Amino acid sequence: MKNTIIETKQLCKSYILGKTGMHVLKNINLEIYEGDFTVIMGSSGGGKSTLLYSISSMDRPTSGSVKILGRDVTTMSEKELSKFRKSEISFVFQSMNLLHDLTALENITYIGYGTDTKENINKKALTLLEQFGLSEEKDKYPSELSGGQQQRVAICRALIGGSKIIYGDEPTGALNSTTGRQVLDCLTSLNEQGQSIVMVTHDLKAAVRATRLLYMADGHIMAERTLGPYRAEEEGERKAVVYDFLKELGW
Ligand SMILES: Nc1ncnc2c1ncn2[C@@H]1O[C@H](COP(=O)(O)OP(=O)(O)O)[C@@H](O)[C@H]1O
Ligand SMILES: [Mg+2]
Repeated sequence: MKNTIIETKQLCKSYILGKTGMHVLKNINLEIYEGDFTVIMGSSGGGKSTLLYSISSMDRPTSGSVKILGRDVTTMSEKELSKFRKSEISFVFQSMNLLHDLTALENITYIGYGTDTKENINKKALTLLEQFGLSEEKDKYPSELSGGQQQRVAICRALIGGSKIIYGDEPTGALNSTTGRQVLDCLTSLNEQGQSIVMVTHDLKAAVRATRLLYMADGHIMAERTLGPYRAEEEGERKAVVYDFLKELGW
């Protein structure tokens, strides 16, 4: 039995548009498990990003509850939330959001300062950069790095505080297939080390990395498939399984 790290009950999110409401998340009951690489796919506009923001405490639902690591984030104050996010949650976006006047190393360490001594944070950042093949890039500025290198720096930055869950909204969406693969390899290797990951994507190459795949449309989780750990040598077979699953759902 895997531990549940995220649990939603009757999760709803609506936006008011003129006189009518637009229901983006419709009574979602979902559990996400520790150690999984959970991937959310689905139709465009189906509510994937909204769901990801709701289950990462970045956005408040309209109704229903969201528990992350056993804590109900829907009843927390802004102050509690910001503390909670800093220690438990990390986000990797489609655009890397690195600070342009800081080096790769500084982009990682400035997020970590305050969570440990400066010396430890520096050491940890250098270890992360090495793990992701970026040691030689440590003193370079974002403009001197490729898109894939920048995104790997963003992943190091997400890891520096020791977050229990990493969330990604289309983290390979802006990358070509080579640099995209490097980023996916990073995420896969983190997951192999036990890191829980929740990622939204529309990219089949990213979806095959999932240990558990969810399909979302029209504000609902329509279906799911358990895939088990990713193996590079099984990529072709996994792709076929994922493709069939998506085709059945009208993707
Ligand atoms: N802040 C907002 N205000 C109004 N409508 C929004 C807002 N954010 C998202 N939506 C709408 O909610 C729907 C789902 O959006 P989103 O979660 O981004 O879908 P996906 O990520 O699956 O493409 C879309 O129709 C979008 O226009
Ligand atoms: Mg989206």
